[in-house]
Amino acid sequence: MVSPGTKLILWRFILPIAMIALFTPNFCLAKQSKINGLKMNVIDRCWRLNAEWRKHRSQLATCSLGYVGKMVNNIGKDLVHYKVIDPSDDPINPKPGTLRYGASMIQGKVWITFQRDMHIKLERPVLISSFTTIDGRGTNVHIADNACLLIFKATNVIIHGIRIHHCKPQSPGIVMGTHGKVIPLGQVDGDAIRLVTASNIWIDHNTLYDCQDGLLDVTRGSTNVTISNNWFRNQDKVMLLGHDDGYVRDQNMKVTVVYNHFGPNCNQRMPRIRYGYAHVANNLYQGWVQYAIGGSMSPSLKSEANLFVASTPGRKEVTWRKVSHKNEDRWEFHSVRDAFENGASFMVTKGGRVPKPNYSKEQCFKIVDAKFVRSLTRWSGTLRCSKTSRC
Ligand SMILES: *[C@@H]1O[C@H](CO)[C@@H](O)[C@H](O)[C@H]1NC(C)=O
Ligand SMILES: *[C@@H]1O[C@H](CO)[C@@H](O)[C@H](O)[C@H]1NC(C)=O
Repeated sequence: MVSPGTKLILWRFILPIAMIALFTPNFCLAKQSKINGLKMNVIDRCWRLNAEWRKHRSQLATCSLGYVGKMVNNIGKDLVHYKVIDPSDDPINPKPGTLRYGASMIQGKVWITFQRDMHIKLERPVLISSFTTIDGRGTNVHIADNACLLIFKATNVIIHGIRIHHCKPQSPGIVMGTHGKVIPLGQVDGDAIRLVTASNIWIDHNTLYDCQDGLLDVTRGSTNVTISNNWFRNQDKVMLLGHDDGYVRDQNMKVTVVYNHFGPNCNQRMPRIRYGYAHVANNLYQGWVQYAIGGSMSPSLKSEANLFVASTPGRKEVTWRKVSHKNEDRWEFHSVRDAFENGASFMVTKGGRVPKPNYSKEQCFKIVDAKFVRSLTRWSGTLRCSKTSRC
């Protein structure tokens, strides 16, 4: 029997601790679970354990984490379900049933799926409007061989489960804009996904490779972005965060890069950061040539529990800093609990505090030990989802 006195003492101590735990904003509660004997990361375990995921596709929107928060603005009663049935593309007069019609013309919340496997060759970049989800789960969808995706002045966009590759630069021309009117569009680089003044964007489980410029560019004041579970491979310039050295508005940029697989055959920019803040956690780096993570213009980076495996022969130093005459030594490159193999090394900023991401409760997630990174990134890129069961 526990005496009433002991009980009182217990409550005096346990209750306050429990209260602190519950109401501390940065307190992260996240469990790992196992599937096929391997650990599944927190984003995946939020929906992949559901064998009925096809009936509950919008559940995915509640699974995001990091700076994008939860994508709950993308779902709800007024959500339009749209199915792409036609892989063709008309950039000025898009036909109903095509990707461009769903992504640019439909206003408000739209959830885009695909009727079957398809290869979409876009005539011009597709402009994705706010509150749009592109969900390739259950189908094998390629956007490839010419123009690719552009998120321009839009918010609340999810891109999930698409293979995007062999994207080419586009000369200026007119395209269907996001408000049902054609607009002139200037020169666009050959990126797989380009964000321009975009916010609340979640890029999850895509496979991106072999593009003429980069794979993913976050530019011109874009912020609140989470890049998770993607597979980036066969590319020179992989990921750019921050427009150019003169674009000071990118100071407010906040990006979470988590559970991605970089490589093989990636050269540089995983990512390259200008001005803003990037939290790069639990990613797998399978070699690099010039560098893995680099930057200029006083960027802040918290690299946390990533696994950096240097390629042999190749560069072993993970980081690169652009030397400019004005602001030398103002990098904040911090490495916390990272793991290094094949002699990889990381040049950290000496002194100073590691900048915290300051996540809210819904953005927050638990970062696991780097020794689990191989299994947590095991399903990066597009998933193979069988017709009858789990994804
Ligand atoms: C980014 O998210 C924060 C909350 O985490 C919010 O205060 C801020 O307004 C957002 N910025 C944009 C441009 O949406
Ligand atoms: C988080 O808050 C601390 C204290 O206010 C601040 O120094 C730090 O820069 C913030 N981190 C980010 C990424 O803004």
